[in-house]
Parts: sequence; C-alpha cells; structure tokens
Amino acid sequence: TWTSNNIIDEQVEAIRARVGNKRVLCALSGGVDSAVAAALVHKAVGDQLTCVFVDHGLLRAGEAEQVEKDYVAATGITLKVVDASRRFLDALAGVTDPEQKRKIVGREFIRVFEQAARELEAEDHVEFLVQGTLYPDVVESGGGTGTANIKSHHNVGGLPDDLKFQLVEPLRTLFKDEVRQIGAALGLPEEMVMRHPFPGPGLSIRIIGAINEERLAILRAADLIAREELTAAGLDRSVWQFPVVLLADVRSVGVQGDGRTYGHPIVLRPVSSDDAMTADWSRLPHELIAKISTRITNEVREINRVVVDVTSKPPGTIEWE
Ligand code: XMP
Repeated sequence: TWTSNNIIDEQVEAIRARVGNKRVLCALSGGVDSAVAAALVHKAVGDQLTCVFVDHGLLRAGEAEQVEKDYVAATGITLKVVDASRRFLDALAGVTDPEQKRKIVGREFIRVFEQAARELEAEDHVEFLVQGTLYPDVVESGGGTGTANIKSHHNVGGLPDDLKFQLVEPLRTLFKDEVRQIGAALGLPEEMVMRHPFPGPGLSIRIIGAINEERLAILRAADLIAREELTAAGLDRSVWQFPVVLLADVRSVGVQGDGRTYGHPIVLRPVSSDDAMTADWSRLPHELIAKISTRITNEVREINRVVVDVTSKPPGTIEWE
C-alpha cells in the first residue's frame, strides 16, 4: 500500500545502494520537487550531499529566505548559497523580449551553477547530481533517462564534458501530490511543500517590460498581498497558480486624495488547471478580489489600478510572457 513512509524507506534504501560513499550535488530552485528530492537524498546519505542554491534575484518575497533558513533548519542539509542577483539583473538590463529573458536567465544559471560545481569538484570528486524529475516529466520526455530532463533554465544537460554526473532521480515514479505528502512527512516547511508551480525565469517574465530592482520590488509587494489574501481566504488549493503581473511600461491615470496619480496597472491571473496544458481563469470570490485590490492600491504606491485576467488557456497562456 502507498504511504509516504513506505516510499521514503524504499527510496532511502535505493539511494544508499546506488550512491555508496560517493559525493552528490543538487541544485535547489526554491520549488517543491528539488526540495523534496534533496531531502530524500540527504536522509539517505547525509553530508555526502551538498546543495547549491543560485539566488537569481527573481524570486518572490520570502522565497530565498525559505530556502536559505527554513529549509536548512528543517533538514540540516549543507547548502551553498550563491547570491547572483546582481549578475542576473545586469545581464537582463534593458531586455524586454520574453524568449530573450528566458535565454539569459538559463545561460546565467548554467554559468553560475557550473562555477559552484567546479569549486566543489576542486575539493573532492562529485559523482552524482540529484534531479526532481516527476513521473509526468518522464512521460512527457518519452520515458528515457539522461541528462536532458531538467526543465528550462535548470537544464544542466548543458554542462561541459568534464562536469558530467550520473543522475539520481528519486521522484521519477511520483506525482506532484505524492511528492507534497513525502515533503510533509520529511518535515519540510509547509509553505514550501504547498507552493504553487513557479516558472524558472521567475519574476523576469512577470514584469512586462525591462527588469530592474525597483520594478521587482513593486511586483514583490503586490504579489505578496495577493498570496497573503488567498491564503487568508483558505483558497490556496482552489487555484493552480496565481501569477501577478506588472505592466511596467504601461501607465494609467488615477486619483488619490486631491491629486491625480500616474501609476502602473497590475494584473491578477489566478487560474485553475490540472496540468498547466490547459487552464481556466479562477472564479475567485469578488470579496477576495476586492480585498486584494484595495490592499495593493493602498500599500503599493506605484500601483493605481488592479485588473483581473479572465482569459482561458487556450487562447491565453498562464504567464503573460
Ligand atoms: P504557460 O504560460 O505556457 O505556462 O501557460 C505553463 C506552465 O509553465 C510555467 N512556465 C515556465 N516554467 N520555465 C519554467 O520552468 C519557463 O520558462 C516557463 N514559462 C512558463 C508556467 O508558470 C505554468 O505553470
């Protein structure tokens, strides 16, 4: 019978048998899959595992801290944090094209991760790389094993030849909800385990226009309010994802007190979906939307208009870029 504890025991045994006394590396993204995969491997082989977290500066409020503090506290994992936000922001400066943003984030990620991997290699040979590949990923990619299974910017298949690792993929037979149960059983922070899917390029594709610190700060503040209110309404599980999108190059006239404002609109994009292939806009309660709108326009000075995206996928995509 399926229980989290059975799966954990089985996987721990399998990982120990496979890894022996070799060293293992894992890139944490802040997402559920890599967090649970790494926690399983850590349970199996302890400090033979080193995790690397590349902070690209494009995460939402509190997410880097979740990885750097809460996750480490919960697991005892050895974590190497690389704060590369300056580097990513410099590389993204002035870029507005969505695919260009993705390419840049992907390229910089590989470079930074590669550098971290080399530093670890210099200490002692690393044999294995952990990946949080899930069963649906395996099916989608034709079922083969290999190095090409990491999604988009985590595609470590692009590492140079002298940095080739064998893959450890302890979640290969599991679905997302099972991975969440296992994460909870392993004692990972609730917010991490229940986190909605979040794109690898992060907030870079939720700012329509060029990316800079100021725009990121505006989006983070608005996004945090939307997440707080969704949670407070007890509706986290009723949506698949809830992107908040800053129309940074659009300005809109508003009024506040005695004066006119000329701020930015922000878009709420809550969607319901089973697999992100198709989606419908979530019919969130109007009171919740109203609360989010009031709070955002009160608390985030630069935003003077809140709009809700009511497009299904297709024809819209979930993200705006
Ligand atoms: P779209 O916008 O295509 O998104 O409907 C479908 C799902 O994929 C996520 N997404 C990405 N994930 N790198 C990722 O890792 C990306 O470049 C990327 N673009 C979109 C999106 O959040 C949704 O879950």
